[in-house]
Amino acid sequence: MTHEEMTRQYREYIQEYLGDFYRELHGEPQKQLFEAMEYSLLAGGKRLRPVFAFEFCRMCGKDWHAAAPFAAAVEMIHTYSLIHDDLPSMDNDDFRRGRPTNHKVYGEAMAILAGDALLTDAFMVAGSAVLEKPEDMGFAISLLAHCAGSMGMVGGQVLDILSEERTLTEQEVIDIQSRKTGALINAACVLGTVAGGGTEEQLEAAGRFAGALGLAFQIRDDMLDVIGNAEELGKSVGTDVSKNTFVRLYGLEKCEELVQRYTRVAIEALDIFEDNTYMIALAKSLTDRTV
Ligand code: IPE
Ligand code: IPE
Ligand code: MG
Ligand code: MG
Ligand code: MG
Repeated sequence: MTHEEMTRQYREYIQEYLGDFYRELHGEPQKQLFEAMEYSLLAGGKRLRPVFAFEFCRMCGKDWHAAAPFAAAVEMIHTYSLIHDDLPSMDNDDFRRGRPTNHKVYGEAMAILAGDALLTDAFMVAGSAVLEKPEDMGFAISLLAHCAGSMGMVGGQVLDILSEERTLTEQEVIDIQSRKTGALINAACVLGTVAGGGTEEQLEAAGRFAGALGLAFQIRDDMLDVIGNAEELGKSVGTDVSKNTFVRLYGLEKCEELVQRYTRVAIEALDIFEDNTYMIALAKSLTDRTV
């Protein structure tokens, strides 16, 4: 199977899996909520976090389908983070995943509730994973909560907002971005490894890969806010000018260099996985992504 076919297979599978989850519930009285949730959840996006979860599971030598509940849970939390990130009280963006943002269509109250429900339901999905070592479930759930909550993504979003008024040091920006974006990428990679029954060494390597890749990914995201095309990206651009982005700190040229550097660090962490060619190619392909 070619790398493109692997990506397509993972993406199609997660699309189906996520679609199945709420399909039966549209007859319920709160059907408007399900509609708002699915509006953002099934709109597409790159599905990078599920791809990471599936691939780490596969690299551990297991059937990658075992990672589906974790892959779906992380994607649900990621989608909720995007819905809330776009709200008028946050980044105030109108366009996401090729569509008007959730609050533009369903109103702010429903967008907040759709995000709340996606976050909460994610733990129901994650809890349905069937693990070779069932005793790992406690670790998995607490890792997911840690990456999503006050110490992870939400904490990063808070620091992002609070730091708007001042110029930060390099370490402060790295700290914010590691939480804001790195944490959920970490959850995807490490939980994929858990689903694959990975060793301590493999869990540590997955975390190291995610840490570096998460930074490279967010630096490229900040670059695309300046040089990207809204149509192609499927989201608003040029709206983060007041933020402490990597571009504001370093300028575009240095950012390009940093994306390469962090991607190299990420790839080094993959050494201990035998069958790592797809993941290496995927990490490299993200360095000059335009979407
Ligand atoms: C966007 O994430 C927000 C960041 C954390 C940088 P993605 O670029 O992965 O968004 P989708 O999932 O493809 O829509
Ligand atoms: C947000 O970062 C990351 C999240 C936790 C949602 P950005 O605000 O840069 O993400 P985009 O550019 O709107 O996708
Ligand atoms: Mg933001
Ligand atoms: Mg934003
Ligand atoms: Mg951005």
